Amino acid sequence: MNLKTHYLGLELNNPLIAGASPFPDDLSKVRALEDAGIAAITMYSLFEEQITQNIVGAEAHIGSYENSFSEAASYFPDVDILARDVDVYLEQIQRVKEAVGVPVIASLNGTREGAWVDYATLMQRAGADALELNLYFLPTDIEESAGQLEDRCIRIVEAVKARIEVPLSVKLSPFFTALPHFAKRLAEAGADSLVCFNRFYQPDIDTDELDIRPSLELSHSTELRLRLRWLAFLSGRIDTQLAVSGGVHTGLDVAKSLMAGADVVQTVSGLLINGPGHASHLLDELNRWIEEKEYNSLEELRGCMNYLRCPDPEALERANYMRLLKSWRV
Ligand SMILES: Cc1cc2nc3c(=O)[nH]c(=O)nc-3n(C[C@H](O)[C@H](O)[C@H](O)COP(=O)(O)O)c2cc1C
Repeated sequence: MNLKTHYLGLELNNPLIAGASPFPDDLSKVRALEDAGIAAITMYSLFEEQITQNIVGAEAHIGSYENSFSEAASYFPDVDILARDVDVYLEQIQRVKEAVGVPVIASLNGTREGAWVDYATLMQRAGADALELNLYFLPTDIEESAGQLEDRCIRIVEAVKARIEVPLSVKLSPFFTALPHFAKRLAEAGADSLVCFNRFYQPDIDTDELDIRPSLELSHSTELRLRLRWLAFLSGRIDTQLAVSGGVHTGLDVAKSLMAGADVVQTVSGLLINGPGHASHLLDELNRWIEEKEYNSLEELRGCMNYLRCPDPEALERANYMRLLKSWRV
């Protein structure tokens, strides 16, 4: 079936995108992703902290950048880790663009207001077809309310949007108090798409060494369910496109995401575990399933399981929750 999809103003061959990952560091892997049918490539992120270090290094006076930078820098034993990649990143966008024919989405990652947002323009100039802004943070400030925190995010989205002409997606976490309302505000601030969701790395405590043990575990399909629920709530209700990130490992995961309302589906862990060629398995399985279920177009499928036709999703959710708990027999 024709899987062509419009996302962020781009025409994609299908709805499967390589999410932000280290793949774009290796052009042979990027080409392999394209050969396997991936419809767009997302770059790994350029972080606010990297950019700020670059600006601080370039400026004789440290000035207004100092506060946001110094805290982050103090946690890195080697400050060079922050600085080394800024120019390389912009060059890598160009290299990836030259290596493949599919669209390339650059990724900017930051949460404090500052001059780093200017790099959105440089990413566009380097050839990025669109930009993904990742608002990855943990709210740790006891004085900052949910409303203030959302306002800060909105100001960053507006600042980035003002600096680019290419479309903008915003990758966010599921942990906002009133996610649908915040999603609506992001759309009004200029987000052309929302990427649901960031996957938080969860450090453990090492009880022998009495230390924090950082861990980056790859995802499982079970993690998709959180995304499906929120996609189904947001789909058709807000004026942005929707992308899934987190827990897409099979063609059926792609199908479920589309049914819940995703315009496109990102995958990373599945590709890291199985290699770039895994993308073709996902697309084959998706195609087989679509034929089996006799869908005639992606549009027929997209959002067919969302909550748009449900007058009171909250009541439905509570009813399902109660039914589930009460069905348990000891
Ligand atoms: C090794 C690795 C590197 C990643 N780097 C980035 C990054 O630079 N920027 C970003 O927004 N997400 C990054 N992610 C998160 C992925 O884009 C994705 O959101 C997450 O892995 C969930 O998708 P998955 O279940 O398909 O892996 C990274 C993930 C992994 C595993």
